[in-house]
Amino acid sequence: MQTVRDLEQLRAAIAAFRAEGLSVALVATMGALHAGHMALVEAAKARADRVVTSIFVNPRQFGPNEDLSRYPRRERADADMLEAAGCALLWMPPVEVMYPAGFATTVSVTGVSDGLDGASRPGHFDGVATVVSKLFNQVRPDFALFGEKDYQQLAVIRRMVADLDMGIEIVGVPTQRDEDGLALSSRNIYLTEQEREAARMLPRALGEAARAISGGTAVATALERAEAALARAGFDPIDYVALCDAETLQPVDDLERPARLMAAARIGGTRLIDNLAVEAESVAQ
Ligand code: PAF
Repeated sequence: MQTVRDLEQLRAAIAAFRAEGLSVALVATMGALHAGHMALVEAAKARADRVVTSIFVNPRQFGPNEDLSRYPRRERADADMLEAAGCALLWMPPVEVMYPAGFATTVSVTGVSDGLDGASRPGHFDGVATVVSKLFNQVRPDFALFGEKDYQQLAVIRRMVADLDMGIEIVGVPTQRDEDGLALSSRNIYLTEQEREAARMLPRALGEAARAISGGTAVATALERAEAALARAGFDPIDYVALCDAETLQPVDDLERPARLMAAARIGGTRLIDNLAVEAESVAQ
């Protein structure tokens, strides 16, 4: 695996793939890799001849009181995992390469970015859309893979790619979970033992609500029960538990179209998010 940190080297490496007629898939990450990221790499390998992984902790998607300075950084271990997984190229731009002096552009996707995490974390999705646009322009992949755990991020990127005719196939990869159901996240390492124990209530409460809604329980009732269960487990604040249209992410109160149950809540100092697909009479993960 080749590791590159400047644009010239990146472009030369991508040009070499293209000269051989090879297809390219991008896995964009902020590092601190875990099995969820490795599932993206595996899915990328299944689709394209060469996998490019980026590691860039993007300051523009962190709010002023968020965890940018303490976000886990483990370059060596990440590189070893990617090499072992068969990633061809690791793109690790420094901040000044991604955002040189004078950088003045923001990519903003309205509508799908507005509610849920967009409301709780103002500016977050502008930061994501801006850096992902840059990564797409830098790598020019055929495919890009994103985890369904960050479901709103996936919806924002799909909208952006469609709106801006980027011509990249966006592939959503199902959430990877620990044995007790907790969605894998680089932020799980912040949890104390006690918080980790309580955290499993998040997937459990969502699963119960999803089953109840599928079985005909009123959406408002199921959401209230899920919020109460999270509060009892110690989540505070609960930013949202909401049933949304799976594409637009507008709140819905029936299952006429594919829907997604979305939640974000804080346990101790750590904000966790999760989501599940909900269908009438059956729940698909
Ligand atoms: O999901 C992430 O790790 C980040 O939001 C992404 C897509 C790499 C953009 O910084």
